[in-house]
Amino acid sequence: MAISIHAVTPSFAAEIGDVDLGRPLSATDVAAVKAAFTQYAVLVFPDQTFSDESHLDFARHFGPLETSVFKLRTDHKMRLPEQMADVGNLDADNNILAENDRIRLYQLGNRLWHTDSSFKRLPAYCSILHGRSIPPIGGHTEFADLRAAYDALPDRMKRRLEGLVAWHSLMTSRAKLGFSDFDEAEKTAFEPVPQVLVRRLQDSGRISLYLASHAGTISGMPRADAEALLKELIERATQRQFVYSHRWRINDLVMWDDRCTMHRGMDFDDQRYKRDMRRATVSDVAPTCEQMGLAVAAE
Ligand code: OGA
Ligand code: MN
Repeated sequence: MAISIHAVTPSFAAEIGDVDLGRPLSATDVAAVKAAFTQYAVLVFPDQTFSDESHLDFARHFGPLETSVFKLRTDHKMRLPEQMADVGNLDADNNILAENDRIRLYQLGNRLWHTDSSFKRLPAYCSILHGRSIPPIGGHTEFADLRAAYDALPDRMKRRLEGLVAWHSLMTSRAKLGFSDFDEAEKTAFEPVPQVLVRRLQDSGRISLYLASHAGTISGMPRADAEALLKELIERATQRQFVYSHRWRINDLVMWDDRCTMHRGMDFDDQRYKRDMRRATVSDVAPTCEQMGLAVAAE
């Protein structure tokens, strides 16, 4: 039986049924998922029960996998395989992380609008997040459509953004929350990297903003102007009409296009409820400046 597609919004989010991602997928199913992903940027696969290995195998259909940034730390005991990002609120023994736990404070950055791995020179293509355990209230994930947000910009703004390069760092987003506890290895790994502000998507041909709270400066622009512009763009892009809010059901698998969306996790009582979320992340094909043929000036 072929997969079924049910639009949740006209062009941004869709649910996919009649597919068991825990089993090997036929080439036809993979092609159908890819086609849906080109049209919609957020796909929801309800009721998927599978192992971490099957989850990673599904992700490999879309490209090479990233490894978790926690791998950098030797003081952190990993709960999950190193190719999986742990975005829940649990420690290696499946207990709730204490309020002042470094990992918890660091993960609070996921509450800011962002796209995954834009702080890496080669950023993410897509993220595939599985909800193993869900709080009964709160803990939604919101997604913003940066293609639709770009289309709605005034022409003057579109012209202003042409050729601009922003610098992204994990330390920039964490600083917004007062978090600055990085060791030397992390400081080196999280040096700012250049990313285009506007990109063309090779598969759909659509044009998209490329934004995240990781962005702090823009080449050739005074810092204050850059911050004001980035703030304005994030505000414009996250207006209600561009946002899909996902209310998790247990065993939902949600896949989003990191090239043309932002997302953020919403508040929940994380000292009371367990939220076990596991993410596989697929790398993009090339750095964004390279994809857009832009030479990079110094920061
Ligand atoms: C992520 C992320 C938000 C959430 O998995 O990359 O930012 O709601 N998640 O868990
Ligand atoms: Mn994220």
